[in-house]
Amino acid sequence: MSSGAALPPKPLPQGPLPPKPLPPEPLPPKPLPPEPLPPEPLPPEPLPPKPLPPKPLPPEPLPQDAVLAALARVQDPEIRRPITDLGMVDTVEVSDEKLSVRLLLTIPGCPLKATLDADVRAALAPLAGARNVRVEMGVMNDEQRLAMRRGLRGGDGSRPPENPFAQPGSLTRVYAVASGKGGVGKSSVTANLAVALAARGLQVGILDADVHGFSIPRIMGLDRGPTRVDDMILPPIVHGVKVISIGSFVAPGKAVIWRGPMLHRAVEQFLTDVFWGDLDVLLLDLPPGTGDVAISVAQLLPHAELLVVTTPQLAAAEVAERAGLIAAQTEQRVAGVIENMSWLEVGGERLEIFGAGGGAAIATQLSEQLGVAVELLEQIPLDPMLRERGDAGRPLNLASEAPDAEPGEVSAVAAAFVRLAERLGTRPRGLAGRKLPVSPR
Ligand SMILES: Nc1ncnc2c1ncn2[C@@H]1O[C@H](COP(=O)(O)OP(=O)(O)OP(=O)(O)O)[C@@H](O)[C@H]1O
Ligand SMILES: [Mg+2]
Repeated sequence: MSSGAALPPKPLPQGPLPPKPLPPEPLPPKPLPPEPLPPEPLPPEPLPPKPLPPKPLPPEPLPQDAVLAALARVQDPEIRRPITDLGMVDTVEVSDEKLSVRLLLTIPGCPLKATLDADVRAALAPLAGARNVRVEMGVMNDEQRLAMRRGLRGGDGSRPPENPFAQPGSLTRVYAVASGKGGVGKSSVTANLAVALAARGLQVGILDADVHGFSIPRIMGLDRGPTRVDDMILPPIVHGVKVISIGSFVAPGKAVIWRGPMLHRAVEQFLTDVFWGDLDVLLLDLPPGTGDVAISVAQLLPHAELLVVTTPQLAAAEVAERAGLIAAQTEQRVAGVIENMSWLEVGGERLEIFGAGGGAAIATQLSEQLGVAVELLEQIPLDPMLRERGDAGRPLNLASEAPDAEPGEVSAVAAAFVRLAERLGTRPRGLAGRKLPVSPR
């Protein structure tokens, strides 16, 4: 085989390369299958025939007993007893259209008439149905008032009223708030402690025994006087507390210039003629020192226990001790010592403006001298809010109203009263240091 000549190389094509064939154009998208048609709506079902409006039923019969049972839940706002027990329900009439009740007030122009009217209507509303409620007010006659007073005081009304707190069976704890010197905060402690005790659900009364220097009406914001029902005095109730003060009986700006026997008589009358009801706690705000009133209180209320208030200043504590020592002579118990104005908290620090240790010192001294343990019950800080609210007649409530307080936050001073109320409100009435009313046969 001849090798032949090698083939000449293929001439490379000259010029531009021929254009590359274009890729095939994408196929147009397949048309989607047609969506199924929605099912044709069914013809609407025929509506059921409209029910006829119900025929008004005749009102359920309402027996008088049911009305009386509802009225028994209404209390007289001043006496705090069911109006049915006080003979205040005169007539009850029930018909298909209306429910009429006629009440008898103890005196004409009773200051709490509107409250009573609202309370009665609220009690009757659930059973009245469509009936129209009518509340009429009349006034008790002399006989009816006498029957009510007898019912409240017991007995046949022929004997003069007695001091209920001096009776052997009395369950009321009586605390007399005392101090050796003035201005240490007795009245502020009395008022705020009373409100804190009432907030615990206790029945509380304040007898302002500081006849010459009464300040309880202002601190408690007393805006009305007591109601007189013949010889019975019904104390006004403010901030949940029954309050009696000579301030309610003297003209504004007038001073009381009574001396010993008159003072004694005033305190006695406040105990006997005032209808206090069943109190859990009675607080007496005493004048400073160991004067006539302190002695009268000791005589009239041998069961009273002293709460000795002092500042942390040792000199004040020495004076306070003298007030406590009167307890030894009168056989009254000392329930404890309260140190007030203990410190002022500024920027998280306690400034002891009136010194320190007065409360503890007097508790120790009284314990030694009386021969029974006397405790320092509480230290109450200084707080301008306490004074401001005292001036405005709004004792502290449990939540602080300081501008930077969280909702529900309790200020240190309010917390101190809450603790004090807890200690004094739950304490059983002690018998130590008390003469028992037992006479030898
Ligand atoms: N913890 C306290 N913080 C701030 N102010 C207080 C405090 N305790 C009492 N005060 C204020 O001190 C003043 C004297 O208090 P208060 O009248 O209660 O004392 P008192 O012992 O009853 O006086 P008196 O002996 O004249 O009856 C009042 O202006 C009162 O608001
Ligand atoms: Mg006072």
